[in-house]
Amino acid sequence: MLLVYYVLAVNIIAFILYGYDKSLAKRDRRRIPEKTLLFWAWIGGSIGAFLGMRIFHHKTLKPKFALTVPVLMALEIAIIIYSLFQNYHLTVTEYEADLNLEQDITIVQVSDLHNQFFGIGQSTILNRIKKQEPDMIVITGDIVDKTHTSYGISMDFIKGAVKIAPVYYVTGNHEAWLHGEKMDSFFEEMRSLGVIFLNDAYIETDEYILAGIADTSLPSFNAYPPFGPEKPVIMLAHEPQYYPLYQSLGADLALTGHYHGGQIIIPGKGGLVSPEFEIFPELYEGIHDMSGMKLVISRGLGNSVLPVRVNNYPELVVVKVH
Ligand SMILES: [Fe+2]
Repeated sequence: MLLVYYVLAVNIIAFILYGYDKSLAKRDRRRIPEKTLLFWAWIGGSIGAFLGMRIFHHKTLKPKFALTVPVLMALEIAIIIYSLFQNYHLTVTEYEADLNLEQDITIVQVSDLHNQFFGIGQSTILNRIKKQEPDMIVITGDIVDKTHTSYGISMDFIKGAVKIAPVYYVTGNHEAWLHGEKMDSFFEEMRSLGVIFLNDAYIETDEYILAGIADTSLPSFNAYPPFGPEKPVIMLAHEPQYYPLYQSLGADLALTGHYHGGQIIIPGKGGLVSPEFEIFPELYEGIHDMSGMKLVISRGLGNSVLPVRVNNYPELVVVKVH
């Protein structure tokens, strides 16, 4: 969102400067240096600069402006379209996990939504989930974001998700940062809609245990003792790097997120940066076999402080558990 405000601001400033400079020229007053006018086009204000040139009939005959500004504008528009596609092109990744269940289950994992918009009323993402015919939807944290305040977008998602399948939820670091009255009422509404909170809690069915850990309880967790080998354990937690803890609690399958795919995925090298600003972190996406425990790391759906995704489309994870 900060990036959107930046692009809007520099373009508005560029547009105003071109108009103001034209009025100075008409009144024969001291002018804005050409370097300054071009500077605003170079730093992302090329659309505003171009509109300023056309609307105020200003600098249109100067080759320096007539060439540079349209080229910068074409480049900026291309970057904006590419960024929108990278941030909103929803993909589905399917994994398999064998836990020796008698009856197969389909889990849809939604991680790191960060109040990201996916269609009016979140219809795009909800329709994609519905198509999977899930037995459960699990939300592994960061459904809201500290810097994007439109909680309504995430609540629209919850309202639709509970109509598709039972929804289970654990918190991420952003919910922890946003604690307080606003977060409490959000949680209250989630509960009233039927979302089952698994923050340091678990449920048990005839076939498996579904357990969760609140992000605030990581890494020194002691809310419940390790599970025995009688039933397979599916664990929900936000952060993948604490996988030894999930193993020690007896998890057979752990579903996590947090890494946003490393924001920029470089072929052959992997995800560029972790939320802790580690460069090329070892774990950033995919499914991994950790001494018998399957660790799933969702690339997530939204963004936070770094609003850039490259080669890293938003991801819904589907796990077919056998
Ligand atoms: Fe996140």
